[in-house]
Amino acid sequence: MTATLEQTSSAAETVLQTMRTRRVVRSFTDEPVSEAHLRMILESARWALSAGNRYISKFLVVQDPNRIRLVKAVSPGMLAKPTALIVILTDLHKAAEQQVQIGRDTATEVDIGTAAQNMSVMAHALGLGSCPATSFSRSGVAATLDLPPTLIPEFILQLGHPAPQPRVMRSGAVTKLPVESLTYWEQVGRPMPRQAGG
Ligand SMILES: Cc1cc2nc3c(=O)[nH]c(=O)nc-3n(C[C@H](O)[C@H](O)[C@H](O)COP(=O)(O)O)c2cc1C
Repeated sequence: MTATLEQTSSAAETVLQTMRTRRVVRSFTDEPVSEAHLRMILESARWALSAGNRYISKFLVVQDPNRIRLVKAVSPGMLAKPTALIVILTDLHKAAEQQVQIGRDTATEVDIGTAAQNMSVMAHALGLGSCPATSFSRSGVAATLDLPPTLIPEFILQLGHPAPQPRVMRSGAVTKLPVESLTYWEQVGRPMPRQAGG
């Protein structure tokens, strides 16, 4: 059955609204993230864009509060006290198998971003909060999480139930730039056309 234009636009609006209302959360309650929610978030990563469908990344779920505390100790970018982490790892075995040159093939970094984005949006859709951490000691996190040398930690997604307090905006904090200021149309320097009826 073909979707009507009305159904299509309502699905698109829902997706956009979920993306639009997701903001990083750096303050969480102590309530653990359920396994069902973690599974949904991992499922969203599975469906992310992946260059050549190669899936060089692996995911490590961490819920043990002690391990989270130790990861935080070596991660200056972890400002929150999350109740779960999903660590995106580069699998060097898989990369070698697929003849991917880590560090030269930027597509692997893009893959980390696509998975991270899907997971953040899914977490938000589930009523959870998330925040990336990329500022961390690779060797410290690897040691804390007992990673074999073939799995490199690349990205940490901090997860939890958002604390009720409202997010405080610093005065002069940057809000989202309008799409017109980020986009050229057909040619660099040419602005987006005005919206019909706008
Ligand atoms: C690649 C990447 C790395 C980031 N690293 C960190 C980090 O180490 N610590 C942190 O608190 N936030 C980190 N962030 C979150 C950004 O600061 C945040 O997405 C940005 O300020 C926009 O806020 P918003 O997502 O709520 O719109 C990172 C985001 C991205 C995309």
